[in-house]
Amino acid sequence: MTADKFARKRIIGKHKDPDSVDSHEPKRLLPKHKKDSSAYKGRFITLSCVTVLAILLVGYFLYQERLKNAVNTPLNSPRIIEDDTSSSKVTPERFWGSYRPHTYFGLKTRSKNSPVVGLMWLQQFTGRMPPPIRHWCNQDDKIQGYGWVAHDGVNFGVQEINEDNFKLNTSFVKRMGGKHGGDWTAKVIVTPKVKLSKLASPTYVSLMFYMALDGQGKVDTEMVKNRVSGINGYSEELGNFKISFPKVSTKGAKYNHLVTHTTKLDKLKDVMMETIKIEAWDKARTMPYFILGGRSVPRDSGGPNYIVHQVTAQLPLEMEVIFESGSVEDRKETLSGESYDETLSQHLVEFDNKFSDLFQHRQNGYNNSMVDFAKFAMSNMIGGIGYFYGSSLVQSKYNKEPVEYWKAPLYTAVPSRPFFPRGFLWDEGFHNLLIREWDESISKDILFHWIDLLNSEGWIPREQILGVEARARVPSEFVVQQNVNANPPTFFLPLQKIITNMIKSNTDSDRKILKALYPRLKAWFHWYNSTQVGTQRSVYRWRGRDPNTNKQLNPLTLTSGLDDFPRSSHPTDDERHVDLRCWMALASGVMADIARALNADWEEYRATNQMLTDNKLLDELHWSKEGQQYSDYGYHADKVKLEQPKITLQPGQRPPQQQPDKIRVVITDPKYQFVNSFGYVSLFPFLLKIVNPTSPKLFTIMNNIKNPNMLWTDYGLRSLSRNARLYKRFNTQHDPPYWRGAIWINMNYLALSALNHYSYTTGPYQNLAKSIYIDLRNNLVNNLYRQYIKSGYIWENYDDKTGEGRGTHPFTGWSSLVVLIMAEKY
Ligand SMILES: *[C@@H]1O[C@H](CO)[C@@H](O)[C@H](O)[C@H]1NC(C)=O
Ligand SMILES: *[C@@H]1O[C@H](CO)[C@@H](O)[C@H](O)[C@H]1NC(C)=O
Ligand SMILES: *[C@@H]1O[C@H](CO)[C@@H](O)[C@H](O)[C@H]1NC(C)=O
Repeated sequence: MTADKFARKRIIGKHKDPDSVDSHEPKRLLPKHKKDSSAYKGRFITLSCVTVLAILLVGYFLYQERLKNAVNTPLNSPRIIEDDTSSSKVTPERFWGSYRPHTYFGLKTRSKNSPVVGLMWLQQFTGRMPPPIRHWCNQDDKIQGYGWVAHDGVNFGVQEINEDNFKLNTSFVKRMGGKHGGDWTAKVIVTPKVKLSKLASPTYVSLMFYMALDGQGKVDTEMVKNRVSGINGYSEELGNFKISFPKVSTKGAKYNHLVTHTTKLDKLKDVMMETIKIEAWDKARTMPYFILGGRSVPRDSGGPNYIVHQVTAQLPLEMEVIFESGSVEDRKETLSGESYDETLSQHLVEFDNKFSDLFQHRQNGYNNSMVDFAKFAMSNMIGGIGYFYGSSLVQSKYNKEPVEYWKAPLYTAVPSRPFFPRGFLWDEGFHNLLIREWDESISKDILFHWIDLLNSEGWIPREQILGVEARARVPSEFVVQQNVNANPPTFFLPLQKIITNMIKSNTDSDRKILKALYPRLKAWFHWYNSTQVGTQRSVYRWRGRDPNTNKQLNPLTLTSGLDDFPRSSHPTDDERHVDLRCWMALASGVMADIARALNADWEEYRATNQMLTDNKLLDELHWSKEGQQYSDYGYHADKVKLEQPKITLQPGQRPPQQQPDKIRVVITDPKYQFVNSFGYVSLFPFLLKIVNPTSPKLFTIMNNIKNPNMLWTDYGLRSLSRNARLYKRFNTQHDPPYWRGAIWINMNYLALSALNHYSYTTGPYQNLAKSIYIDLRNNLVNNLYRQYIKSGYIWENYDDKTGEGRGTHPFTGWSSLVVLIMAEKY
């Protein structure tokens, strides 16, 4: 393997120095020694022993170094994304974008120390001290709904934000030109919800639009009287630029600003808050009115790098921010006012046309309101794409302390803007099923960024927490990624289609990409196929389960993605995980295809794929006769419960103030057996279409799916059977059920894809598959739509009793797969 070669080369390189200073080379000494006296002989033996020992020690030391470094050494194979792939020269059209998904509205470029711009706002005269300021998406803000109503990932986006008393419409439009990614204009429109005449007092809102630098570049204000009318600036990738803040048309608007220097890019709001002052708005209004602190740039700071422009006015209020690149020479007109509205309308028309051509939702019988919902879902998947730069903290068993991964860029969608605004490995495979339908070039760019993150072992950290803004959102205990831990290789779902397309098109550039992609996928596949295996041939096991916990009812399997889905109660090396086996079947099939197209050794992949899809072998290893289901196998006790430990007090001892945490009590003895908890994990051979269409087991599975006492609900398939022992059970005293009943959209998408497949594949159960397919699809689509209309959000998962949205929201990662479900694209 290439990785080994690289590591070895480094060792040889380092080896040289100690060797060359060492004058006692055994080879040259050896012939001499025969002639020498025994005294010399003795000395020689001691000497050569010392030498051998020294070499061994150095070797051992270098070997240890190599083991330590493997975790944060890049795979020695050409990258797919070159250094300048994201630059304004190579992909100017994607240089600027809404790549700060954790903000309500923020833009940056795809470069490593990009200046950032963004919006904050507050409502004046509410009597609240300090005033709540919106900036980073936050569920505690209790906003009634927000998200992109249209976003094409390249040219523009329109977003609506639904506050209690008013609505914000934030949009941006880009225009290409010059050498640095062109111009853009952002517009914020704030409208009151209640007609003015009906309001006792009008609503006043402050909009704060800022630009901040990330360690490089220069900015300063352009002033007209006391008002910041614009920013002039320079940065490495943007060259010279100018931002204008035209006066707003609302009468009596007031302008304030902050011009300062900060190194805390992750604390822009706090830095701003510290400067806020109170002033009287006018004689009639005695309530405090909050304004920014003005100019305060420490003398030795090297000038301002954080500028905020504040406009305060009675609603309605409209503000434009115009960015113009200094390198655009032939600019006919400024992108503002009517020209802005016209350009935006054109983009909206093109967006609508492309969207209806691609997904044909109306032809599928959906009305306008439902099509708008689908547009919202897709726009938020696309509008949630971010660009991050930094390094993960990683650790292997050879590192005492976590070490930094190498610094790298990542262009990726995110599961949820307020809660998970960063890259997650297994989510991203699902995301790109949708993204590639919209724009395959974006999808390739995303997946290749990820695949370039492979280390010398063939591992990719599963959660990408890159840069200060991302790290600020993650509790420190979750930051470190362990290199023994996998995550489902879902990239193979979109890659299957992307690779097929590239093989078909067979252009030079595609062949070049395939050639760079293949050795990387190979390393990735072999990492799984060697580190995640079980104790028998063709058996796989997720790592990262804790065999020693006594707090968890069932030890978590975070690595599988299905965190608390019940597995064997007592993790051992002899476990078999059926979902991982099926993921490996998928992966080996795609590997065989790409290898074959490149005339590389494909036979072993095909053989592995045949072994893993062989129903006879699958049934032997994973079919539970007793449970009539595919199952994990392991050391397992069915009956466990959480109990308050009894405290025996010594005479005179006072009872503790806090009850100790509940601990797990095992009621029946564990033994090796199938783990019969019917749910998503049991469905995997079906979900990934491995079950033979003629297998009677397919019939059993579909009947269990359709059974309301098992997985069936009016809103989609629940994750765990209602009659499973751990259905809806807390995993510890404090951890509520997660994958123990709730309805998840990614798995329902796979179920529909499978049902669709079995309804078209010749076999005795085609009609059954078709009828379940129709019902499940209707249930899912109708419920997601209903909950969206009701709550303003798309959710992380849905309650199996009421259909209500649960968990994080907005969650427009894989829940947005509803767009493909409505379009029947699998
Ligand atoms: C938001 O504003 C733009 C004009 O700036 C307009 O084209 C668009 O229709 C508005 N969208 C909504 C949802 O109000
Ligand atoms: C569109 O269809 C949905 C689902 O059938 C329905 O609930 C909704 O009322 C319809 N909307 C309009 C505007 O007809
Ligand atoms: C994957 O690992 C199994 C052993 O568990 C082996 O039999 C198979 O050949 C491997 N597949 C490939 C493509 O290397």
